[in-house]
Amino acid sequence: MQPISPLMIEHRIIERMIKIINLKFEEYTRTKNPNKLFIESAVDFIRTYADQTHHGKEENILFRELKKKSLTLEHKRIMDELIQEHITGRRITGQLETAKNLYFSGQKKALDLILKKMDFLVKFYPKHIEKEDKQFFQPVMSYFSLEEQNKMLNEGYLFDRKMIHRKYSKLIGEFEKKSGLPLIMSRNWLDYL
Ligand SMILES: [Fe+2]
Ligand SMILES: [Fe+2]
Repeated sequence: MQPISPLMIEHRIIERMIKIINLKFEEYTRTKNPNKLFIESAVDFIRTYADQTHHGKEENILFRELKKKSLTLEHKRIMDELIQEHITGRRITGQLETAKNLYFSGQKKALDLILKKMDFLVKFYPKHIEKEDKQFFQPVMSYFSLEEQNKMLNEGYLFDRKMIHRKYSKLIGEFEKKSGLPLIMSRNWLDYL
């Protein structure tokens, strides 16, 4: 299996969630009644799965290795665009969370902002995924030997294995902070798992 195979399977999972976010966008536009729990779940999905798990493997493994190769100008341009798009995705997700907090703290005008950010994300992710699937992933595999590809695939498995520990360690850290407790778990410990 190529290291891009798990990434493409993850794209299919992200697409399923984007479809649901789009349905909720249409529902909230109609009812003007957004659901706090759903928006929080969507933000968590985008942050933990689409960004940290999926973009994490793209940036920290595939793109990192591609940066060591002599890329064509076209491939370099697309990779730079993809990195910028990841940054945009993070920014808009943060703005969606802020808009949700404003709305549920009583500022009903923030509904427009919630809808705008949801609309942006459901249009943005499919285009980003299509660019990777159709213009980038397969062609850039030719820069790597079979051995290099296997190495990246295995590094991806290790990266994924640590995600559950990262996610819940981070969650506990947030609770500790809110409760005024000292942070017990240092990030370095996770490297040994
Ligand atoms: Fe990406
Ligand atoms: Fe991707």
